[in-house]
Amino acid sequence: MNSFKKLAIVFGLAIVATSCQNERERNYQYMPNMYESVGYEAYGEADFLPNKSEAMLPPANTINRGWLPYEIENSPEGKELSRLQSSPLDSMNVEANLAKGGQLYTIYCAICHGDKGDGQGTLVKREKILGVPSYADPVRNLTVGSTYYTIHYGLNSMGSYASQMNTEEMWQVSEYVMKLKQDLTK
Ligand code: HEC
Repeated sequence: MNSFKKLAIVFGLAIVATSCQNERERNYQYMPNMYESVGYEAYGEADFLPNKSEAMLPPANTINRGWLPYEIENSPEGKELSRLQSSPLDSMNVEANLAKGGQLYTIYCAICHGDKGDGQGTLVKREKILGVPSYADPVRNLTVGSTYYTIHYGLNSMGSYASQMNTEEMWQVSEYVMKLKQDLTK
């Protein structure tokens, strides 16, 4: 038998086998996996995967896209340490970073801190929130690093913005806050 005939027979059988399916009758199922796929449980056990589970943990030391680990811990010592940290952003890009930082500041911060950073945002004027400082307040002694720390961890009634912005964006806002501070003390 030549291979063409063999092929014809195989196809012929396949057509006969699959075309007899009648939805109203009990049928023989040829190749049942084609009618009913195997229902793996989402997040269930899966023997064929390396750790037997479909929900696999990322490998050790994996970091999220856009995220760099922040080494400074959330403590009074961490806060002091943060004051000494300088911005890792490219100093050749100051203008672009300030422009982006300004946009983000308007979105996230101005409602409390005010467009100028003087602590007179809309919520403060309407007496919805108390104790929002001016960035120029000498007691606060703000630096770009301590601003990043505050955005990352939040401070009392101010929440953390670490889930809204990535590392680069938080530094851009921090640089912008430093510019506001400078303008306020002119
Ligand atoms: C809901 C109002 C609110 C928003 C929005 C807000 N803040 Fe604040 N922020 C505060 C308050 C209140 C304080 C004072 C907290 C305290 O000292 O207890 C504060 C304090 C600060 C300080 C001073 C921290 C220090 O070391 O004393 C900085 C810097 C700051 N905010 C930056 C930001 C930036 C940047 C944003 C936007 C990403 C932001 N804040 C958004 C309310 C807000």
